[in-house]
Formats: sequence, C-alpha cells, structure tokens
Amino acid sequence: MLWGGRFKSSINELAMKFSSSLDVDIRLIEEDIQGSIAHVTMLAAVGILTESESKTIRDGLSSVLTEYQSGSWKPTADLYEDVHSAVETRLTELVGSVAGKLHTGRSRNDQVATDVRLWMRKVAAEMIRLNEDWQKSLLKKAESHQNTLMPGYTHLQRGQPISLAYHLLAFAEMAERDINRWKAAQNAVSLSPLGAGALAGSTLPLDRNLTAKLLGFEGPTANALDTVSDRDFMLDALHAVSTGMIHLSRQAEELVLWSTKEWNFIRLADEVTTGSSLMPQKKNPDMAELIRGKSGRTTGNHVAFLTMMKALPLSYNRDLQEDKRLLFDSIDTYSDCLQLMTMMIDGMEVKTDRFLDDLKHDFSLATDLADWLVVQGMPFREAHHLVGKVVQWCEENGKTLPELTSTDLGQISSSFSDSAVSVLNPLTCLANKKTIGSPNPELVAGQIQNWKNRLKM
Ligand code: ARG
Repeated sequence: MLWGGRFKSSINELAMKFSSSLDVDIRLIEEDIQGSIAHVTMLAAVGILTESESKTIRDGLSSVLTEYQSGSWKPTADLYEDVHSAVETRLTELVGSVAGKLHTGRSRNDQVATDVRLWMRKVAAEMIRLNEDWQKSLLKKAESHQNTLMPGYTHLQRGQPISLAYHLLAFAEMAERDINRWKAAQNAVSLSPLGAGALAGSTLPLDRNLTAKLLGFEGPTANALDTVSDRDFMLDALHAVSTGMIHLSRQAEELVLWSTKEWNFIRLADEVTTGSSLMPQKKNPDMAELIRGKSGRTTGNHVAFLTMMKALPLSYNRDLQEDKRLLFDSIDTYSDCLQLMTMMIDGMEVKTDRFLDDLKHDFSLATDLADWLVVQGMPFREAHHLVGKVVQWCEENGKTLPELTSTDLGQISSSFSDSAVSVLNPLTCLANKKTIGSPNPELVAGQIQNWKNRLKM
C-alpha cells in the first residue's frame, strides 16, 4: 500500500478487491517502468536525487521488470491496488528505503496518464499495421477478380452490375479512413503528462521538458488539472475501434450472405469456419458472425466510456479507473477481428462465373439504357420514364433487358435505334462507365496499381 499514514485500520477485504485494478493494468508494467526510469533520471538531473540513488532505483526497476517477465514475481490483486503500487512495493523489497524516493513529485494520476499514452502510441501503430494487412488481402483478391462480375446493390435490391474487385476496393477505402483515425489517435498522445502531479504540479523543480524528451513526447502538456483527467485520447481510440469494427461487421455480413446456398458466390476456407454438432453437412461462417456480433461489444464499450466520463468534475476521480478495462477489451477484440477478417479474405474462394449468366436475366442495365437515350438528346426524366415502360413491357412479355432485340425496342418506342441493344450487355457494360470512381475496369486497374504502390506490394 502506498498510503496509510492517516488511517487507523486497514482496508476491508472486499473494498480492496473491489478497488484493485491490478488484473487490468498489469499489462502496462513495461510502460510504467519506462516512465519511472525517465522520472528518476530527471530527478537526478535536477539534483533532487544523487546520481547513485537514481542508478540504484533504475537498476532495481529493470530487475522488477525482468522478474515479472520471467514469472519469478507474480503480483496479485489481493495485495496491490494497481500496477504502480505493485512495482514500487517490489522495488522497495529489492533496493530498500531509497525506493521511497521514486515517487518524489509524482502522483499515480500523472503516472497512469503517462503509461496509457505510451501504450497507446505503440498500439495505434499496431492497428495501422493490421489495417494495412486487411487492405493487402483485399488488394490481392481484387487483383485476381477484376473480371468477376456481380450485381451491385442499393436497398439490397439489384442496382447496377459491378466487379468483385470494385466491391472489395470499397472496403480498402474504409480501412484507409480507419488508418487515418489511428494516425489522429497517435497525434492525440504527443504530449507528456509526467510532472502534472496529482492535479497542480509540484513545488519541486521537476524538468518536464526532460522527461517528455526521454519518453519520446513532443513536450509537456500545458495544464496539469486537465492533464490528469483527460481521457480524450482514449475516446479517440474507442471511436477508431468502434468505427473500424462497424466496417468489419459490414464485410462480415456480406461474407455470411455470399457463402449461403442462395448466393452461392464464395467458399470460406476450412480454417475459418466451423461445423455443427448436430447437422453433419454444415460449414458455418462463425468467424464472420462473431465479428459482426462483437461489433456490438465495441460500440458498447465506447458508449460505456462516454457515460463514465459524463459530468465528472475536475480533475482525477476514481471513476476513471474503469477506463482501461473498456479500452483494452475494445483493442483486443478489434485486433483479433482484423486478423480474422484478413484470413477470411485471403482464403476465400470465389465462384467467378456465378453471376455471368444471372445478370443476363435481370434489369440491372436499365440505367445504361436510360443513359443511351440521354446521349441521343432525350431529357433524363423522360428517358427514365421510357425505360420504366421498357421494364414494364419486359415483365408483360416474359423477357429481361439483355434479352431484348432491336425489334422489341423499336416496337416499344421509335426513340430506340439499333445501337441501343449494344449497351444491354452485362459483359461490356462496365467499360462504358466514364466517371472517376466508377467500376470501369481500366479505372479499377489504375486504383489497384495506386493501392499497390501505396502499400508497397
Ligand atoms: N489505478 C488508478 C487508475 O487506473 C491509478 C490512479 C490512482 N489514483 C488515485 N488517486 N487513487 O486510475
């Protein structure tokens, strides 16, 4: 226990268990020790500790870390309130009373804020890397499916034909925005909280610039009161996670649909599917379903965190200790989901011809026909109406658009000439697209090349 001087009796057992965060924050031990080493280095530099005291403490801290990593020292929640008290107590056991100088001018409030920021810096870089892996898997699949036609949907109704490559690239765009959110999250932890103390700095001449530099921060934070209760950077990360998980869940949903008998578009690899305990024939897309399901949890963590923060008076309040449980759970979940999604995309087998014939028997080229009329000079509204009539005619005569002959079209309206039927070909329709960002195969190939350059593939 790091406190106790003013207490007559010791803490109740349940209260101790209830308030200990050790099980959760022990994973910050490396960052905690890194921060402490910077702190005592600075204490010696400004003359508060002698160089030899500082060295004894630094060596002791390194031993605590080695002991923890080798498993020879196992801190438990019944003994310690948190990782900070555990490390300091063990340090005292190892180096004696000089350990009492470690916490000079410091509070666990600025300490924990520093630890999590250091951790976040590392994790944000890792999330960027995992998103790039997801992008690479999308890119590889897209490259080999530039000619795989499929229906594009709005309202889950067939809209216009697209290619699978184009569809997959849409997710690469989402991943890119996710990466940008992680870059912003990295940016949000560029300043050092160390030296903010409990809430109002210190009367000791602590050199906050030095500790910031030693820990790789750009400089110290400006207002100690804000610093010890600022959790915005964690909210930024939770936002990045919850949005990223929504993207993954949207792709997961599509993989579930595409692998059904009804869609019959893909086969997921055995490594990422499971069987049924009762129905021997089943191959279930459980990983995709779980990603979809877990996005509920990461959204929940985000909302729980906001709710925990709401109306907290300045500055540090113990409520804030609930932060790390939510943050760690979200990050761990997201990290697993990103890796599993990458595996699913990598191992996914596509039935390339699934929609080739199918698209000849639907109405998804209706817009192309209307565009043809526009090129002939007809106002779009009129063209839209006329093609509506064509669809109606088809329905009455048991035909679909690509099955129409120029005689059929001529019978419906004199506005159509022979060349109209040429746009009704699902195989060539993509090449007619003119606009930037469309599924024109040449543009898609260009996009693939840009992505490959960007991802150094
Ligand atoms: N375990 C605490 C947390 O995670 C560390 C800070 C404790 N500060 C305090 N004044 N009790 O927030």
